[in-house]
Amino acid sequence: MAVQISPSILSADFARLADEAKAVEETADWLHVDVMDNHFVPNLTLGLPVVQALLKHAALPIDCHLMIEDPDRHAPAYAEAGAGSVTIHAEAAKAPVRTLRAIRAAGARSGLGINPGTAIEPYEDLLDEVDMVLLMTVEPGFGGQKFLDLVLRKIRRARAMITARQGREEREIWLQVDGGVSDETIERCAEAGADVFVAGSAVYGAQDPSRAARDLRAQAERATTRAGWRLSCRRGPSRARARRSPLARLAAPSAGCQSRRGRTR
Ligand code: DX5
Ligand code: ZN
Repeated sequence: MAVQISPSILSADFARLADEAKAVEETADWLHVDVMDNHFVPNLTLGLPVVQALLKHAALPIDCHLMIEDPDRHAPAYAEAGAGSVTIHAEAAKAPVRTLRAIRAAGARSGLGINPGTAIEPYEDLLDEVDMVLLMTVEPGFGGQKFLDLVLRKIRRARAMITARQGREEREIWLQVDGGVSDETIERCAEAGADVFVAGSAVYGAQDPSRAARDLRAQAERATTRAGWRLSCRRGPSRARARRSPLARLAAPSAGCQSRRGRTR
């Protein structure tokens, strides 16, 4: 597993999204975009037109987190627009196999989101269809909430499930945590087995978002090593890969340990 940082623009200045995206492009791996519809969650943010506009201006690949009702109807369009990853919620999808396959067919990584009160176990059979599991570590809907420690046990169980599954195949399934991830909580998440970290207020609420993302990565990498998780060279699609054909975005990340920013993985 390789640590990846996905700053959430929910805590950024919505009037300056292109600049806010640029602010973290040297130190983050993804740009996390929270789509909320005021039905699945009690908040309304943005939708496909804003994602399409961001795709034209952001160098980082877009990590779309759909907190919406009827993702079966809406999710494929985000993948077709060019998002690198599209996550739908288990609690909202009525035909998750079809939808996850449609996301992949459109060239994005498929993600399955799980709320704090939802168990992971009923979704074990879906792992074949999933490139990333997103475990919510707050109730979805708002940035700046307090991290829910009760999810740590589920992170461990999800990591064990993923490890068992990966013994049988080459493909790497990522385990993302989202909500209340900060310098106070990221190490516990990494030790429990998470490898993709969404951080909204901890990055965009900081004086220097780029530095905050870099510091969070360093903390997560130390905790990952301490916990004995293997740090691999695999990482998300590079910005060049994200802009290539949809099929290229489906390919396994290259094995080189030297990232575009010169970090050694
Ligand atoms: C909440 C969103 C998160 C949010 C996290 O429902 O899914 O991505 O931006 O914000 P922080 O990191 O501030 O908890
Ligand atoms: Zn999110």
